[in-house]
Amino acid sequence: MILLPASDYTLDELTQAYNQTRTDYLIPMPMNPDRLNEYITLYDVDLPSSRVAVVGETIVGLGMLGRRPGQGWITRLGVLPEGRRQGIGGAMLQALMEQAALTDVHEVWLEVIKNNQPALELFRRHQFQPTRELIIARRPPRASHNAAALLAARKIYYLQHEEVIDLHCAHRERMNWLNAVDSMRNVRRLAASLAESGSADGIPLHQMPHLSGILVEFHDGSRGWVTYLATTLELKRIAVEVTSGAPVVVTACLLELLHRLHAAQDAVVENIPDDERWQGFQRAGYFEVFRRIEMVRPAEASDYPGSFAA
Ligand SMILES: CC(C)(COP(=O)(O)OP(=O)(O)OC[C@H]1O[C@@H](n2cnc3c(N)ncnc32)[C@H](O)[C@@H]1OP(=O)(O)O)[C@@H](O)C(=O)NCCC(=O)NCCS
Repeated sequence: MILLPASDYTLDELTQAYNQTRTDYLIPMPMNPDRLNEYITLYDVDLPSSRVAVVGETIVGLGMLGRRPGQGWITRLGVLPEGRRQGIGGAMLQALMEQAALTDVHEVWLEVIKNNQPALELFRRHQFQPTRELIIARRPPRASHNAAALLAARKIYYLQHEEVIDLHCAHRERMNWLNAVDSMRNVRRLAASLAESGSADGIPLHQMPHLSGILVEFHDGSRGWVTYLATTLELKRIAVEVTSGAPVVVTACLLELLHRLHAAQDAVVENIPDDERWQGFQRAGYFEVFRRIEMVRPAEASDYPGSFAA
């Protein structure tokens, strides 16, 4: 078995390999090349430092590394079912950690689906420690709406992409990799890459990927915002911040207002913490689909060649 940079392979080959490693996965999440490309762009996946495991001519596994200043992120790690338990997953993980250690990365993050025991075992053995549980939830469109949120709102400000980015920059909470400000900024890179590839031809400007948001002041002095990416069928990248007032009630009101504005779309939230805002999401009609465990391998766990900067 040899490990090669993922950049030696085409998106089609990587997609096919990824899907083959996930044929028996707990939650089916097949990819196509466009979605993988979007994933790579949004989450700063670095293909030259990502690895493909090859035996003869056959890809038997792959693992990807995302990079942001000071931080790494391991994702899409998988081995073909028939190649497991032979050290391939561990070898790829180690190679990704070594790649991370070559630059200024001082901590490496990842998420694993709760109850994925093989992966949890593998990551624990490599000194990853769980930090928190994250929830993936959905909300189908609903016919009826609660008027209370509308009545409670005193002022609603409608935000454009750059205003949304400014809010996320000022946000002090530690966000998971998927919802960090870099992922939000990369929505513009996504629009640019669509335009460059010609796949945006014929798409009206307002339908190019961009973030939107509403910032709401309520009569009782509560305040908060919700930001999101709206497509024709779905609301994605939803983030809520309550700057003043009761987190459960304000979150539920913000979401009610959002869903009045976009009544026809399904909504998906990914990797949100199990805090009071999650109770607000539930009040607004969201239900849990599954959970992930976020894990980190801090600098002091270093036992790989190359050193992590402090
Ligand atoms: C998780 C996965 C990548 C592990 O790959 P692998 O090649 O089988 O892993 P390795 O052979 O290197 O195993 C290394 C260690 O991980 C742990 N481990 C791996 N599979 C395990 C299992 N089924 N049960 C318990 N521990 C397991 C063991 O500690 C193992 O060491 P050991 O064999 O000496 O006991 C593989 O099971 C897989 O592709 N699963 C589906 C995709 C997936 O879940 N990816 C992770 C998403 S976050």
